[in-house]
Amino acid sequence: MTTMAIIGTQWGDEGKGKITDFYAEDADIIARFQGGNNAGHTIVVENEVYKFHLLPSGVLRPEKTIIIGNGVVIDPEVLLKELEDIEKRGFKVDNLKISDRANLIMPYHKLLDGAQEQSMKNGHKIGTTKRGIGPTYCDKIGRYGIRMHDLMNENDLKERLEVIVPLRQKMMAAYGSEAIISEEELFKIYLGYGKKLSKYVADTSIFINDAIDEGKNVLLEGAQGAMLDVDHGTYPFTTSSHTVAGGACIGLGIGPKKIDRVVGVVKAYTTRVGEGPLPTELKDEIGEHLLKRGGEYGTTTGRARRCGWLDLVVVKHACRLNSLDAIVITKIDVLGGLRGLKVCKAYELEGDVTTNFPSSLKVLAKCKPIYDDLEAWDDFTKEEGVEMAKKGYNALPKEMKDYVSYIEKNLRVPIELVSLGPGREETVDLR
Ligand code: GDP
Ligand code: IMO
Ligand code: MG
Repeated sequence: MTTMAIIGTQWGDEGKGKITDFYAEDADIIARFQGGNNAGHTIVVENEVYKFHLLPSGVLRPEKTIIIGNGVVIDPEVLLKELEDIEKRGFKVDNLKISDRANLIMPYHKLLDGAQEQSMKNGHKIGTTKRGIGPTYCDKIGRYGIRMHDLMNENDLKERLEVIVPLRQKMMAAYGSEAIISEEELFKIYLGYGKKLSKYVADTSIFINDAIDEGKNVLLEGAQGAMLDVDHGTYPFTTSSHTVAGGACIGLGIGPKKIDRVVGVVKAYTTRVGEGPLPTELKDEIGEHLLKRGGEYGTTTGRARRCGWLDLVVVKHACRLNSLDAIVITKIDVLGGLRGLKVCKAYELEGDVTTNFPSSLKVLAKCKPIYDDLEAWDDFTKEEGVEMAKKGYNALPKEMKDYVSYIEKNLRVPIELVSLGPGREETVDLR
């Protein structure tokens, strides 16, 4: 019986959705603990593609309980639409619990997200998803937030809106926004959301702690990745939440001793969507191969992801921040057919060699990746991938096994799954 966290180790989009769904077979509860609908997690089952932004990736297994924890910022409109869409596709969602302490994304947060980005000079824009994530976390920490429990009581909601909306209207006016959203209008709309969501709202910290104490298997599904963590990532080109495993304690209301295992998801190469540094970025035909063959287009915004070689300085940073017990490698199939492979094992910084990721982006800009060369394998079809996954690790091409061993040796963390494609059946289990 375990409580296990699944964490992105790079800049997000490592395949956390697929991997969470894979482990979810043995879990009783799957919980999200941070982020919001900036996340886009894809699961492919029998060639059907499902994309989730707020619902945990356990939703395709209706017998499981899914939880949206207090650390998640919730846009109720998006959540209701996601529930409607998945129910239309035949999945009943009876076992959803939403934390009464979760902060809500309000229309002014989305407007402010756009307005702030717009007003920033080029080179400083973050390239956010414009879903209102940053302004909502700002309001949470600033104590101007509206929380799920406020929607459960008319008077509480009215009182909070009366205090907060005039302040945010002033802020929007300062950005030259002409959109006026009145307290009365927000009250009506959000009370309506509250009525629809009330059956799911609960004190999820009590629920999850009781479940852990009863010996239930719990999966904690991270969103984004370590390099987007607001403290440990490439600040200020990060998201606004704690994407590392420690965030799961705060975002669900569980103590650190309740987490038994932490698994890091590592894409076999590197991608990032939005602005900010990417030391191993490839702006050539290899980058183009990764983009096209990997289908590297944002699940949430559709933007093309920037692609580069695997950067082990980055993943090592994530290993330490998360105390990773094991690693899952995803999208290794995408490297098939390339002429040769490179992996960054360190940076050269003003004549010295470092394997530590610097805090300052000015220092990072001076870092030059130091690469090792590895051999690639021939590309293979989906059917061949499924066949290899069935046969197990030994059936993989020698060069691929060398690539996996190289990562394992450098990081000194065991690799327990290798993903050869988006489907459940395209997964090699090394356990
Ligand atoms: P997440 O945000 O970490 O859940 O990742 P996304 O869903 O945003 O992006 C990962 C993409 O890669 C999705 O389109 C997945 O269906 C796909 N994917 C996941 N694992 C694999 C894999 O091993 N190989 C290939 N080719 N695609 C994969
Ligand atoms: P998943 O969970 C990749 C990026 C945005 C932008 C920065 C800040 O699918 O891995 P925000 O809207 O959060 O204020 O944007 O963070 N970003 C992601 N990139 N995957 C994600 O989530 C992301 N969520 C946010 O592109 O650069
Ligand atoms: Mg994603």
